Amino acid sequence: MPLITSKELFKRAYEENFAIGAFNVNNMEIIQGIVEAAKEERSPLILQVSAGARKYANPIYLKKLVEAAVEDSGLPIVLHLDHGDSFEICKQCVDDGFTSVMIDASHLPFEENIALTKQVVDYAHDRGVVVEAELGRLAGIEDAVNVDAKDATFTDPEQAAEFVERTGVDSLAVAIGTSHGAYKFKGEPSLDFERLEAIAKLLPGFPLVLHGASSVPAEYVELCNKYGADIPGAKGVPEEMLRKATTMGVCKINIDTDLRLAMTAAIRKRLVEDPSTFDPRHYIGDGRAAIKEIVRHKIVNVLGSNNYI
Ligand code: G3H
Ligand code: 13P
Ligand code: ZN
Repeated sequence: MPLITSKELFKRAYEENFAIGAFNVNNMEIIQGIVEAAKEERSPLILQVSAGARKYANPIYLKKLVEAAVEDSGLPIVLHLDHGDSFEICKQCVDDGFTSVMIDASHLPFEENIALTKQVVDYAHDRGVVVEAELGRLAGIEDAVNVDAKDATFTDPEQAAEFVERTGVDSLAVAIGTSHGAYKFKGEPSLDFERLEAIAKLLPGFPLVLHGASSVPAEYVELCNKYGADIPGAKGVPEEMLRKATTMGVCKINIDTDLRLAMTAAIRKRLVEDPSTFDPRHYIGDGRAAIKEIVRHKIVNVLGSNNYI
């Protein structure tokens, strides 16, 4: 099976109240860990590549690794550009064979966001590629840009409906209180489910996307810290909130930070406990195993995308 778009996946996810995990990938072991878990749980996947990942790994390597994953696993896999910030990067990815791109013009005024998103939609749709856009602005860190909480804005439901109608976009990332990175909430975690419900009501059948959806499991943070890291006060989105979102039109859930924490905890542990090793396969292999474990947990206990095939 070749790379696919998310069209069919989202249709089924919407109807059956589950979500597809969109996991950020930066190297071979991260891809392998994710794909091994999905293969065992018979789950489809969205593997997403940020501008930072393209710069780190060289896009051609990531593309070929993802193609290898498709061939090896036989799973339905979408190759997605995460947070494309210009027409040019989206065009590049469409031309490179990505099956899905995100144009993130959420920092622009409404009309400019519409115009840029529409430009990407026109180009991508002509070539069979689907497009995600964002309306409203999340707080947190993405591509080394730190969006301060005071600059974050929640998605307006009426604007969301108008945005989808005028752009013809295939899915929409909404801001309801999640944020990128490991420090999502100062106090008690809370998401604006009333807002999500209002958006979903105005967009029946339409797939919504949650970015910044890592749960930041305490055990991984503690493990990192036990083995020499200093990550105080990290707090993520409780898993029950994510499960609830999957019943309210959210069909794609983005997870990166949890993978970073899981991999880092395992590598730190190995390097401390086995100080004589200098074989990268030992510690990066442990990192890969930790990615597999957390992705399996997400698929089965949070997303509900297991037994899809
Ligand atoms: O939303 C951002 C993702 O976590 C990707 O992070 O831009 O550092 O690759 P990155
Ligand atoms: P987290 O930082 O919560 O993992 O979010 C990742 C994300 O939204 C990637 O686009
Ligand atoms: Zn994101």
